[in-house]
Amino acid sequence: MTPDLLKQGAQRVAQRIEKVSNETESGGRDASYGRVNLPGEVDVSHGRILYLEEVSVSFDGFKAINKLSLDIAPGELRCIIGPNGAGKTTMMDIITGKTRPDEGRVYFGSTIDLLRHNEPEIAQLGIGRKFQKPTVFEYLTVFENLELALKTPKGVKASMFFKLDSAQSDRLAEVLHTIHLADSVLTQAGNLSHGQKQWLEIGMLLMQDPKLLLLDEPVAGMTDHETERTAELFLSLKGKHSLMVVEHDMGFIKTISDIVTVLCDGSVLAQGTLDQVQSDERVIEVYLGR
Ligand SMILES: Nc1ncnc2c1ncn2[C@@H]1O[C@H](COP(=O)(O)OP(=O)(O)O)[C@@H](O)[C@H]1O
Ligand SMILES: [Mg+2]
Repeated sequence: MTPDLLKQGAQRVAQRIEKVSNETESGGRDASYGRVNLPGEVDVSHGRILYLEEVSVSFDGFKAINKLSLDIAPGELRCIIGPNGAGKTTMMDIITGKTRPDEGRVYFGSTIDLLRHNEPEIAQLGIGRKFQKPTVFEYLTVFENLELALKTPKGVKASMFFKLDSAQSDRLAEVLHTIHLADSVLTQAGNLSHGQKQWLEIGMLLMQDPKLLLLDEPVAGMTDHETERTAELFLSLKGKHSLMVVEHDMGFIKTISDIVTVLCDGSVLAQGTLDQVQSDERVIEVYLGR
């Protein structure tokens, strides 16, 4: 056979393969190799729900994140500590698609490349984020806030006639209980304490049943009692969800943490139990100032 004929034959075979794979219901060429993933499922068969590798980002020449590598296991509650300016919030901005890194890889499970998705898509994929300041709807009741957080059909008319189905009602009741607000269901959110507003916002995230929750300084400004209840809340979420918690409150970290990651100058300085990282000379130096 001449090289030309060989080439034509190969092209025909390639076209045939493409046709067959586009016809299959499993997603054809887009499906991952040898694994059947249902839509909306995150592939955690490699034991990681979140994976950052050598991620860097600069702002006006300043490296806020510097070759940061980190991974989180499914169901894990990971605590992140580090001095101000270490890059903790920027890391969350990168995971949620708010900031694009200059280089590196960011994966949700082993198949979803988060750098190919924008902010709303990433939320839709199952990554919920809680910012420092609570952003609940003050004039609505606790119930209405949680109801609003559901994935309602789009459009004004659709929203007006939106009614919770029984699964959604069950979910709402479960979330109310989880966030300790079952007794305040008809209270206007504006009348809640600062801590209760934070819980309500976490509840709004939980209504969407996120696989991964990112929480930036969740107990800042809370009373000691509220902080204790929040620790209980996070411990109850662990296992069902994966959590990444940035906090400065060491008492809180001590109560909830398994593995603590210390961030400094945009990369991981140390990692281990809280006792281990707190006795690490480099960590002590960073916290006591150079
Ligand atoms: N959008 C931005 N533009 C310029 N500089 C930024 C931006 N976001 C963060 N930075 C800088 O990056 C560094 C890390 O900030 P940040 O992630 O907020 O730290 P942390 O949350 O650990 O306190 C800081 O020096 C901050 O000033
Ligand atoms: Mg921050």
